[in-house]
Amino acid sequence: MAATIKTPQEQEKMRVAGKLAADVLDMITPYVKAGVSTEELDQICHDYIVDVQNAVPAPLDYKGFPKSICTSVNQVVCHGIPGPKKLKKGDIINIDVTVIKDGYHGDTSKMFAIGKAPIASQKVMRVSWEAMWAGIDIVKPGTRLGDIGEVIQRHTESNHCSVVRDFCGHGIGANFHEDPQVLHYGRRGTGMKLEAGMCFTIEPMVNSGRPETKVLPDNWTAVTRDRSMSGQWEHTLLVTPTGYEVLTFRSDEVPPSFVRNFNQ
Ligand code: MF3
Ligand code: CO
Ligand code: CO
Repeated sequence: MAATIKTPQEQEKMRVAGKLAADVLDMITPYVKAGVSTEELDQICHDYIVDVQNAVPAPLDYKGFPKSICTSVNQVVCHGIPGPKKLKKGDIINIDVTVIKDGYHGDTSKMFAIGKAPIASQKVMRVSWEAMWAGIDIVKPGTRLGDIGEVIQRHTESNHCSVVRDFCGHGIGANFHEDPQVLHYGRRGTGMKLEAGMCFTIEPMVNSGRPETKVLPDNWTAVTRDRSMSGQWEHTLLVTPTGYEVLTFRSDEVPPSFVRNFNQ
């Protein structure tokens, strides 16, 4: 299946879904504190999405996933299942929210530090965020997927971190995961060319040690094999005729200073 080009009507629905997903991250932020359990955070997000947004939490029952958000703490790379364990000082956590509104998906995640985190944790938080923006900022018609992979990989490795290969970004729309796969490593000049109207995510996972991951016996939780720290951020994007629109943008996020083409 090739990447779909969204019609103006579909683009508007993607904008609405993206805004709702971003709003959930804004809403949950004051609750992300030492002593809260990840299943409490899940319950608060679930109720907000269902009762306030009149939307659907996409992860719930997706391929058997048991909760409404993913919560990935410290060495968890992605797809952490919310549970009774409480956050404590020095932890870092990624909260990944995907909502379905009017049949369309918005998918976004951000990192939080609980108090002052160790240097390696701070580093993967920063480098994964910068790497995501380095990839975002070259999005426009004609850019190739390999161009995006290369800038993300280069930024990550020049900061002495590694890019996870086992998970990738993805096309998104009426389906949670659509073509194309958006790899966070690669070579410029290779891969599919972007066209206006495409929607996809960029969501690099960056480890402080080696890139290899393994999935725990719960069949979801992916962790670093070497137990090093892992960071991830995610935005859903629309390719515009002149550049990109970040559909999941939050007002608390000021893009890094190297970003030149924001929402053009
Ligand atoms: N939100 C994740 C992504 O960015 C996917 C989570 S799948 C789930 O693609 F089943 F774990 F929710
Ligand atoms: Co995603
Ligand atoms: Co996601």
